[in-house]
Amino acid sequence: MQTLVANHPLVAHKLTALRDAATEAPTFRRLADELVTLLAYEATREMRVQPITVQTPVGAARGVKLARPVPLVVPVLRAGIGMLDGMARLLPMADVGFVGLVRDEESLIASAYADRLPTDLTGRDTFVLDPMLATGGTLETVIGMLSGRGAATVTAVCLLAAPEGIDRLAAAFPDGGAVPVRVVTATIDERLNDRGYIVPGLGDAGDRLFGKI
Ligand code: URA
Repeated sequence: MQTLVANHPLVAHKLTALRDAATEAPTFRRLADELVTLLAYEATREMRVQPITVQTPVGAARGVKLARPVPLVVPVLRAGIGMLDGMARLLPMADVGFVGLVRDEESLIASAYADRLPTDLTGRDTFVLDPMLATGGTLETVIGMLSGRGAATVTAVCLLAAPEGIDRLAAAFPDGGAVPVRVVTATIDERLNDRGYIVPGLGDAGDRLFGKI
């Protein structure tokens, strides 16, 4: 597994404002949206393209277009929905699937309650949106689902990551395994606390985006 930490002053600036407990939901949503678009630029760096030639007003220009089949973007419910617009801004042609997982707060084990993914992902680049890579349990499950359906690549786009989650995914999806896996994140924080929250993190991403339910 490859891990890419986006090292950019705009990313750091927006992330700091996101972390601030005084940042209210409307601003939090806007910052998350902008941050995802910056991360999406890095996350799509390895996308496959095919050569084409277009006619400019002055002559022929060789260029590229994104290869088919179109990529699949998969927000993980609920918090991943807050990342969808920011990703779709760079990949408007992508299909969108949805996965819902719930984490048992005692055991921290993730189980699926919604699976709206194509059954065949052969040859497709896939992008999973989940703001918090904490224990890695959710992403391990989702990446396993995508890999099992034949995805060509899986890139997880996360606002924040914990070292524990990175280590777990690296062990589950080693280089040379069934599918190449990348994690793109704005930062890797210190650790998880005993409730599975990232420290210092930003709290519960779903609650901060959409309110407590
Ligand atoms: N999920 C969150 O929303 N926040 C964390 O810190 C960990 C998991």
